Amino acid sequence: MPESPFLVIYPERVRENYRALRAAMSAGSGTAPRIRFAVKAGPVPEIVRLLDEEGAEFDVASIGEIDLCLGLGVAVGKLCYGNPIKKAADIARAFALGVRRFAFDTEDDLLRIVEHAPGSEVECRFLAAAPESRTPFGVKFGCTPGEAFRLLVRARDLGLVVAGPYFHVGSQQLDPDAWRIGIEQAGRISEALADKEIPVTSVNIGGGLPIPYADPAPALGDIAAVINRAAAEFLSGDTGLVVEPGRALVGSAGTIHTEVVSVRTAPDGRRWVYLDVGRYNGMAETENEYIAYRFVTDRDGDPVDEAVVAGPTCDGDDVLYQRTRVLLPTTLRAGDRIRIPDTGAYTASYSSVSFNGFPPLTVHVSGD
Ligand SMILES: Cc1ncc(COP(=O)(O)O)c(C=O)c1O
Repeated sequence: MPESPFLVIYPERVRENYRALRAAMSAGSGTAPRIRFAVKAGPVPEIVRLLDEEGAEFDVASIGEIDLCLGLGVAVGKLCYGNPIKKAADIARAFALGVRRFAFDTEDDLLRIVEHAPGSEVECRFLAAAPESRTPFGVKFGCTPGEAFRLLVRARDLGLVVAGPYFHVGSQQLDPDAWRIGIEQAGRISEALADKEIPVTSVNIGGGLPIPYADPAPALGDIAAVINRAAAEFLSGDTGLVVEPGRALVGSAGTIHTEVVSVRTAPDGRRWVYLDVGRYNGMAETENEYIAYRFVTDRDGDPVDEAVVAGPTCDGDDVLYQRTRVLLPTTLRAGDRIRIPDTGAYTASYSSVSFNGFPPLTVHVSGD
């Protein structure tokens, strides 16, 4: 057993998730979408290799992720540099490495792409009028739909190849209607582009597909049905869909193994359980208590009571849950092992290199 804490990844589960998504999106529409894995969710070589074999494309956010994919033998044509925030030098570097597909959401970034990646294919990210997701992006990314239209016309005029509009409804999106809203808006942008004789070849409907944690999530099939209905209603028949999932492919494919460091009653009278994993070595998505992970202990079945759950560092913010109602066995004590399922997405890669001297979360790939 590796030293606690550690993350175990189950690649075969990633394969099942990929195939289930492809089947759900193909049902009803008859055409398989292009599935572009958001590498940031699980930048593990075995995952990238497996998804490459399955036929996935890859959304990369940095030169580091481009290098990871190319180093594993992924064809450069399968990459899209999808981060709208990038330096001119990084665009030039990506172009030199052979990347020819980029996303942007400002005129500034568009002009950098024109200069440093001439002739490339582009998607313009707009801010869809979708309901907030569990881990929302706010207004950090995406322009208005009107600006997306204007920028895509400008992209064509400046010699780029227009792929089409792009939106992301926020990660762990629990309302299927979010995609209908985004696709309807993308449809209007596409129609306006058609009037300018700019054919839209694809609409990128982003990631955001949710998985169940302590709370339920809508079924993939139900979301896919909403997406396919909206595509049939609002997009022209020859527009392909690109879906860009991270969490939905890798979230359920990982389990963190952690250990109880101590249990005490704090001066606030509440029971605090301190784990050897926290906000800085893997549990970043507990920020604002957005993602409610489940805890599995060897004492499950014993009486339970509420607990505040905290990480091991000396940082006051290294508390996983103090507002969320977490029930843990009253018998729990130092040294007990706890498993945290569904931690395959946004965990190991988020962990700090050595905050308070704690090493980053290690990753172990299961052969099962
Ligand atoms: C550009 C982009 N695409 C796709 C994703 C994947 O999102 P999710 O994990 O919600 O599917 C993200 C996540 O941050 C992203 O930034």
